[in-house]
Amino acid sequence: MRVPLLDLRRDTSLDAQLEAAFRRVLQSGHYILGPEAEAFERACADYVGARFALGVSSGTDALLLALMAAGVGPGDEVICPTFTFFATAGTIARLGAKPVFVDIRPCCFNADAAAIEEKLSARTKAVVPVHLFGQCAEMQPIRRLCQERGVFVLEDAAQAFGATTEEGRAGALGHAAAFSFFPSKNLGAFGDAGLVTTDDAALAERMSLLRTHGAKPKYFHAAVGGNFRIDALQSALLAVKLPHLDGWTDRRQKNASLYRDLFSAYGWAATPPRCWEAAPRPDAPILLPPHCRGRHIYNQFVIRVPGEGRRDALRAHLAERGVGTEVYYPVAMHQQACFASLSPDDRQFPEATLACRETVALPIFPELTEAEIDRVVSAIKEFVER
Ligand SMILES: Cc1ncc(COP(=O)(O)O)c(C=O)c1O
Repeated sequence: MRVPLLDLRRDTSLDAQLEAAFRRVLQSGHYILGPEAEAFERACADYVGARFALGVSSGTDALLLALMAAGVGPGDEVICPTFTFFATAGTIARLGAKPVFVDIRPCCFNADAAAIEEKLSARTKAVVPVHLFGQCAEMQPIRRLCQERGVFVLEDAAQAFGATTEEGRAGALGHAAAFSFFPSKNLGAFGDAGLVTTDDAALAERMSLLRTHGAKPKYFHAAVGGNFRIDALQSALLAVKLPHLDGWTDRRQKNASLYRDLFSAYGWAATPPRCWEAAPRPDAPILLPPHCRGRHIYNQFVIRVPGEGRRDALRAHLAERGVGTEVYYPVAMHQQACFASLSPDDRQFPEATLACRETVALPIFPELTEAEIDRVVSAIKEFVER
């Protein structure tokens, strides 16, 4: 039995509705922004619990747009975790600002608030916590630190549409948030698309202006922006999918529980303590991801395989048996060649450096069957017990 990491064509139950939405947009003759985008934006604002939502061209552009609107530029420092997708740091650098990296918590893989506090300086313009793999960062202390110093907080919620903390949903936990609808996300488009959210009317207005080259009215440019607009087609297709998102997330959570149940039958799989427990992590061949806070939407189910070369050996073993996996991420931001001038040093980021070596994502998509999950776990059992 082959088990893919992700299969975007397994659920075809919405095909008729998606085709109808496609035909509606085709016949409208209106292909960028417009009423389809506005309807989707309203639905997203309601879902997230933010006052304003703006559809944009990608998650990367969502980050870029929000940072531009916050006035980030040359001479500024912007703090972000080093263990993240490149866009988090790349957008900061594209604006001429300096990305200042922080290490992650070993449990939830998200930026450590204490590390952020250490890196805050008079030049810090913004902090970009990332809700990695679908679980929110510890936003309360991060927000408090930033509030005290008047620092802008942009949630990189690309992987966390629908995730929550005790204080609310991702997208309503900072000054602004950036989402991605890349096809592999829990709410995936049929191409590139993204979203920014905020409760701040002036910021929403600024982002709306910069989304269309800073033009208001057309051809009169009050500011230098970009083309960050969402397509009408992506908006219409995403609006068909949005009402089903919570059902898909429930299934991802069930899959995660099933993994935990199946793994827990063996002595060699352990779950490290959660963020707020200061205990050392267990010494086990396989470590499962702890559920540290709020609603984890499991965009990814990421396990650790401690031991030199063991993660890559497990991946090869699973690949031979037709089980798809992926490493998010093999190289941290401080290790990227393009950031070499920032004088990176693995010793400053021990947890992120270790996570790059130990972590691997297993299949978790909603349509995965119990038999497939069982197959993944038994293939890992073969590896551990051989
Ligand atoms: C954490 C994070 N930030 C930003 C992005 C960028 O989103 P997009 O691929 O839609 O540009 C991604 C996408 O994978 C992501 O995972």
